[in-house]
Amino acid sequence: MISFLELERTQTLITFKYKPDGEVTKSFLKDDTFFRGIRGPVGSGKSVACSIEVFRRALQQEKSADGKRKSRWAIIRNTNPQLRTTTIKTWLDWFPEEDWGRFQWSVPYTHRITKSDLDLEVIFLALDRPEDVKKLLSLELTGIWINEAREIPKSIIDACTMRVGRYPSMRDGGPTWTGVIADTNAPEEDHWWAIMAGDVPVPDHISREEALMLVKPDNWSFYTQPSAMLEKKENGITIAYEPTDNAENKSNLTENIILILLEVKLKVGLMFMF
Ligand SMILES: Nc1ncnc2c1ncn2[C@@H]1O[C@H](COP(=O)(O)OP(=O)(O)O)[C@@H](O)[C@H]1O
Ligand SMILES: [Mg+2]
Repeated sequence: MISFLELERTQTLITFKYKPDGEVTKSFLKDDTFFRGIRGPVGSGKSVACSIEVFRRALQQEKSADGKRKSRWAIIRNTNPQLRTTTIKTWLDWFPEEDWGRFQWSVPYTHRITKSDLDLEVIFLALDRPEDVKKLLSLELTGIWINEAREIPKSIIDACTMRVGRYPSMRDGGPTWTGVIADTNAPEEDHWWAIMAGDVPVPDHISREEALMLVKPDNWSFYTQPSAMLEKKENGITIAYEPTDNAENKSNLTENIILILLEVKLKVGLMFMF
């Protein structure tokens, strides 16, 4: 691993390349809305897009008086095994320890990325124990990414919206952007996500009070990726599933090629090219 000082001396570049593969993913990433959700089929690039979004917002953070771009994110998953085997795995695939520093494998799992003027702290939390929720509710954060949000109750989502916008403190200039991002595979029909996104009408069994809590606020937006498979029906009966042409992230799944659209170059003094 190259140390910061070596980095400074040699002006070594870490080149980071990512291209969102799909129009919906691209629009999701371009949006500044406070709460943004993206839903889509498995393997459509949602987790990667959200990982990139955390990093991109950290790069965009204005410097505090001490010259650092400070931000703190929490990344949430419903269970610990899934957090470790999928969420953290995706994160470390894109932000490997050799380039971005040691990952702290003791609870709370944390990846502190300090390079040049970037100071990003990412805390990974599973919510399978009550104390995990307590931990989340005591954090002062810039942003939160809720991974596989269909597994997380709406009350926790609402609580998340209250924990962001608190770091860096106003004394340090405050967060340049703050908010909550969420991704999910297709939820059940009467799920809070489907109702809030307007995919389904409010079901009859939901009380008036509950229904009010599921009205989409103006500063929330939901994105839906095209489905990867099309149901082929005959006489109302599903006879086959066929791949569609407009599925997102197809090239990465079939040929595993990485193209370049959003290119971030990081060097001493920081030079970013988008
Ligand atoms: N823009 C991209 N460029 C290259 N590979 C990508 C890109 N987006 C996703 N991938 C790869 O495609 C696979 C599925 O992506 P992932 O984000 O895990 O999908 P999802 O979360 O929607 O199930 C992973 O192997 C991931 O590394
Ligand atoms: Mg995923």
